[in-house]
Amino acid sequence: MTQVNLQKAANILGVTTAEILTWQKKKLIKGQKINQVDWLFDLEQLTNLKNNQSPGELRILQTVEPTNYKVIELFAGCGGMALGLENAGLKTQLLVEINQDCVNTLRLNRPQWNVINQDIKKIKFSNFRDKIDIVAGGFPCQPFSYAGLGKGLEDLRGSLFFEFARCLQEVQPKIAMAENVRGLLSNKKGETLQLMLQALQEIGYYAAYQVLSAQFLDVPQKRERLIIIATRQDLNIKPIFPQYKNYTISLKKALENCPSSPGVEYKERKKEIMSLVPPGGNWRNLPMDIQKEYMKNSLKNHGGRTGYAKRLSWDEPALTITCSPAQTQTERCHPQETRPLTVREYARVQSFPDDWQFTGNLTSQYRQIGNAVPVNMAYHLGGCLINMLQGDYLGETQPKTEQLSIPGLEVH
Ligand SMILES: C[S@@+](CC[C@H](N)C(=O)[O-])C[C@H]1O[C@@H](n2cnc3c(N)ncnc32)[C@H](O)[C@@H]1O
Repeated sequence: MTQVNLQKAANILGVTTAEILTWQKKKLIKGQKINQVDWLFDLEQLTNLKNNQSPGELRILQTVEPTNYKVIELFAGCGGMALGLENAGLKTQLLVEINQDCVNTLRLNRPQWNVINQDIKKIKFSNFRDKIDIVAGGFPCQPFSYAGLGKGLEDLRGSLFFEFARCLQEVQPKIAMAENVRGLLSNKKGETLQLMLQALQEIGYYAAYQVLSAQFLDVPQKRERLIIIATRQDLNIKPIFPQYKNYTISLKKALENCPSSPGVEYKERKKEIMSLVPPGGNWRNLPMDIQKEYMKNSLKNHGGRTGYAKRLSWDEPALTITCSPAQTQTERCHPQETRPLTVREYARVQSFPDDWQFTGNLTSQYRQIGNAVPVNMAYHLGGCLINMLQGDYLGETQPKTEQLSIPGLEVH
């Protein structure tokens, strides 16, 4: 990887520095800020983007070398994380999920998986003690209050993170991996995350965390997720995070030959309005009188409205998809047709294979997919976990940007 600063990159590529900063703002490249005005970029990534080179179609990544490392997956949803870890070569031993539609989805696609359909709070994990290598889970971050009494894990009792940590205490896996939204970083000015990391330390795990951008990990979507990797303190395992790829996958490539599937439609007036928005555009592209009609009081608010009446671009990864494909503030209209993405298009954007089926009504299917960890992102994380268990630190290493860890813990 050749790193160059902003001006040098512009000179080499024959583009303006403003152009490069626009790519960075659009999250098509990953720059590292080195001071108030300057950045470091990966020259190969810039060159790929300038030459419009893409790796071809979206590939659902799968290893040819399965391992015997065993995983428990908590809060399994419709299986995005579980499938990615399986594709990486890990063996799924148990999945826990409370929602019936999600459980039906998991059982339909993987009848051989051991799925428990229950509230995690009611499950005892001690039978699995010392038999599991990895416990993974995207604990939902429901609002919870904590006393902040400095009691560590006890302060978090009542939260689903507490249940995640309880599972670690009972199972004693070598590694734990938790996934959450980026917003957890700033929740209560960072206090919530710090408390969680301290709690992990208290129960015998070193923890490191990083915000990962899915678009640099073979996922055709700009989706950021906070990943915490914790390793048992009595083992000499150091956390590693995936190495970013130097390309992104455009929505056009991702939706090539996408099988048809059900999808929601806009109401008539919304469809008329959305038909006026060009690919990549949003409410600002509408005539003023229609802006007023569509935006109503939100027109007066300042900032943060780029998601209103948003139409996706063909030539970039999709914007983050949410639990519903047509929400006012996070609209993601198809680039060409005037409609939200179909269920199968949603699944493609999350890098689910076309044969992964979803159960339940349309609303539920969109929600399951929108909640998932992108399968290819989980695949890359799984590769890191395997490397960690095998003591192989030469493969995937984490980029330096946004790397944060508990002081005292060196991260490779
Ligand atoms: C963010 S989603 C997980 C998505 C999943 N990691 C994937 O990649 O598809 C969180 C899941 O936790 C489940 N959940 C919430 N509360 C739960 C509980 N008390 N016990 C078990 N599962 C629960 C929800 O039903 C939801 O499917």
